[in-house]
Amino acid sequence: MALKIIITGASSGIGQALAKEYDKQGAVIGLFARRKDKLIELQKTLSCKSLIFSVDVTDLAQCRLAAEEFMALHGTPDIVIANAGISSGTLTENFSDLETFKKIIATNLIGVTHTFYPFIQAFKKRGSGHLVGISSVAGIRGLPGAGAYSSSKAALTNYLESLRIELFSTNIYVTTIAPGYIKSSMTDVNDFSMPFLMPTDKAARAIIKAIKNKKKYCIVPWQMNIIGRIMYLLPIMIWDWLARRAPRKKTTPL
Ligand SMILES: NC(=O)c1ccc[n+]([C@@H]2O[C@H](COP(=O)([O-])OP(=O)(O)OC[C@H]3O[C@@H](n4cnc5c(N)ncnc54)[C@H](OP(=O)(O)O)[C@@H]3O)[C@@H](O)[C@H]2O)c1
Repeated sequence: MALKIIITGASSGIGQALAKEYDKQGAVIGLFARRKDKLIELQKTLSCKSLIFSVDVTDLAQCRLAAEEFMALHGTPDIVIANAGISSGTLTENFSDLETFKKIIATNLIGVTHTFYPFIQAFKKRGSGHLVGISSVAGIRGLPGAGAYSSSKAALTNYLESLRIELFSTNIYVTTIAPGYIKSSMTDVNDFSMPFLMPTDKAARAIIKAIKNKKKYCIVPWQMNIIGRIMYLLPIMIWDWLARRAPRKKTTPL
């Protein structure tokens, strides 16, 4: 039986690479993103069965409709990957950045709840399913100049943990993926050096392996796992000293 998979943010970067990797496995894929033209371009390169949904994950009604359409045609999916996300540098003292805060939280946190919501009842009814959230190493500790992104991913990681425990006895798995630096349009704008920058296709393979192994939490690439664990354990004074020197992400229009 072909795996049935939903991928949000499939129009570029990690989401697109995940779709291309699952294509090799002959999966049936629901491709979600706002830019339909990019999804059509991707679909032309895939040989598996795929469906395009022009969806903004901040809009619950759009997410529900797309989920229902997919399930009406192909039944309940096996895996739902909430990958859609946005990023920008932000400073709370800048009035215009307050709107950016709202957009980032709405997409990176609330968008994931909108993505999962329509599928959880269907998973429960069938007695199986796998929810995957793409969080970030940036959520492990507060990053200066990126308060919105860093806090959105910290909140997402905790939300996914809550969900994992809530669904413990239901045979529904929850996997949190925390990427370090992966090559994509999100990192192409960075003008600082990015340690262990990973090609997108390699990242997609590592993520798929973690999903297959039903990992609860996985940092990619593996070198970032060591850094992530150290970041988590560092005392506040040392973290503050180090983070003050960290490069800051540019503000980009969203
Ligand atoms: N690249 C990294 O180093 C890195 C590191 C840690 C975590 N991540 C996370 O990985 C995920 C993918 O990022 P990426 O690096 O592949 O960046 P990307 O190339 O910019 O892709 C982001 C994807 O999210 C979609 N998206 C954004 N807002 C959306 C919305 N409101 N509704 C539906 N889709 C939306 C975009 O599609 P449309 O614009 O067509 O809607 C796009 O397909 C994000 O959650 C990001 O935070 C990335």
